[in-house]
Amino acid sequence: MSEVITESNRRRTFAIISHPDAGKTTLTEKFLLYSGAIQQAGAVQSRKADRSTTSDWLELERKRGISVTSAVARFEHDGVVLNLLDTPGHRDFSEDTYRVLSGVDAAVMVIDAARGVEPQTEKLYAVCRARGTPVITFVNKMDRPTPEPLEILDDLQDTLGLVGQPVTWPIKPGGRFHGVVDRRDHATYAFVGNTPGGARVAAEDVGKLADLPEAVREEVELLDAIGADLDLDEFLAGKATPVFFGSALSNFGVRLLLDAVVSYAPPPSAREDVDGRPRAVDAPFSGLVFKVQANLDPRHRDRLAFLRVCSGRFERGSTLINARTGRKVTAKYAHTVFGRERETVDVAYPGDVVGLVNATDLRAGDTLHEEGDPVRFPPLPIFTPEHFATAHPADRSRVKQFRRGVHQLDEEGVVQVLRHPELGDQAPIWAAVGQLQFDVAAWRMEHEFGAAVRLEGTRFEVARATDEDGVAALAAMRDVEVYRRESGAPFALFRSRYVADRVEREHPEIALDTLILS
Ligand code: G4P
Repeated sequence: MSEVITESNRRRTFAIISHPDAGKTTLTEKFLLYSGAIQQAGAVQSRKADRSTTSDWLELERKRGISVTSAVARFEHDGVVLNLLDTPGHRDFSEDTYRVLSGVDAAVMVIDAARGVEPQTEKLYAVCRARGTPVITFVNKMDRPTPEPLEILDDLQDTLGLVGQPVTWPIKPGGRFHGVVDRRDHATYAFVGNTPGGARVAAEDVGKLADLPEAVREEVELLDAIGADLDLDEFLAGKATPVFFGSALSNFGVRLLLDAVVSYAPPPSAREDVDGRPRAVDAPFSGLVFKVQANLDPRHRDRLAFLRVCSGRFERGSTLINARTGRKVTAKYAHTVFGRERETVDVAYPGDVVGLVNATDLRAGDTLHEEGDPVRFPPLPIFTPEHFATAHPADRSRVKQFRRGVHQLDEEGVVQVLRHPELGDQAPIWAAVGQLQFDVAAWRMEHEFGAAVRLEGTRFEVARATDEDGVAALAAMRDVEVYRRESGAPFALFRSRYVADRVEREHPEIALDTLILS
């Protein structure tokens, strides 16, 4: 077996998808503790806390107390290299959050047991489903009052259309959490109690099924009888999800989950190019830029492109070709990025993510490949925006700079720019998945293009992608207007969710899509 195949087979590249406060940060921290990547509990959380106090960071980040940069955590478990790509979720929820999912082979979905599937989880899961990404589910906060576990599985089925296949089952008679039983071997793990700080790494106690309370034993036997067992093929096809129950905060059930990522999540596999031809993992080097971060560090006016290696061996300093422009890119400065720490990377394999510094030509969605072995991966999906603002130049004498900036930010995908067929460039609508995108775009307009903007609210609340037949049908309707992207792609903008829902209901023949996998 080639070196590339061997290395690629021991990579698992995944993201955690969740709604804010479900426990993603806590779980990430526990993963890192297990692997020894961090020594001290609280390291991840405290980084969250001192975000606002760091002096040498991007002004915008400081002001908002967010981290636009934490990107990839890399750690090992059982001899496997795990690349955990961050999906920003609180105030920093943006199109990047979705784009990150183009760089992963699997996802861990964290659900707050008491709250069930929440909106942001639903949106992120929709991307996984569209891409066929396998999802492992962690039902978190089992130490707190929760619905019956069967209700939690029903919620997965009803809200996401996803079949939950419980690998562990909670032991929670009378509402008190005693632990979980592993349905694969009937080993039971006793929950000792909350030990915030994660001092009890790997201290789960193994017991026996016979010791289980009657009601729980019956449930487990029932699950066995109806065959609610893990089906790896269905999981890999994205149709079913293995479910684990636990408590990230008390470090309970986390190791079983991590073991599952290692043994169930797939290693990198051949990725299809724009024509649907698979590029084998051991083909010459190719990679996908799934995110570009500009101006992170005011001292360097840095630009960092995150490249997911798709095939072959990446070597720092080698010359690569950008498939979109045909131009050469020299990967002279390549880093792994974990929070603010950067470490130089010399070699990387499929599944790895490297940060290319100051690769000014690169945009999210670009394919890089080795000279002489061209390939181009499909463009990143576009997501229908949920925030809208009309952009005006604050200073009328800077219209030229304004247009140039808007064009550039649109191309980079910082915001989506929509134009009215009659108004054109005069008053473009900025549309975004998260409010943060406006702040980043406005900041860059002012500081990079010298064209401060004035943003004004719009009459629109909802957008759906449509087609030319849709444009014709929508033209006659009230409370809907069609705007277009620079590419010409039409978007229907609705005055309210109510109007959008009504049109969808009454006109099933009109194409109104929320996610475009172009
Ligand atoms: P996020 O990244 O998904 O937004 O969630 P995060 O890990 O920050 O967790 C959100 C809150 O939920 C935190 O409490 C965290 O301590 C708590 N939490 C996470 N896992 C569990 C769990 O298994 N059980 C219980 N009971 N709580 C859990 P917080 O009060 O907002 O923050 P903190 O002051 O504890 O840091």
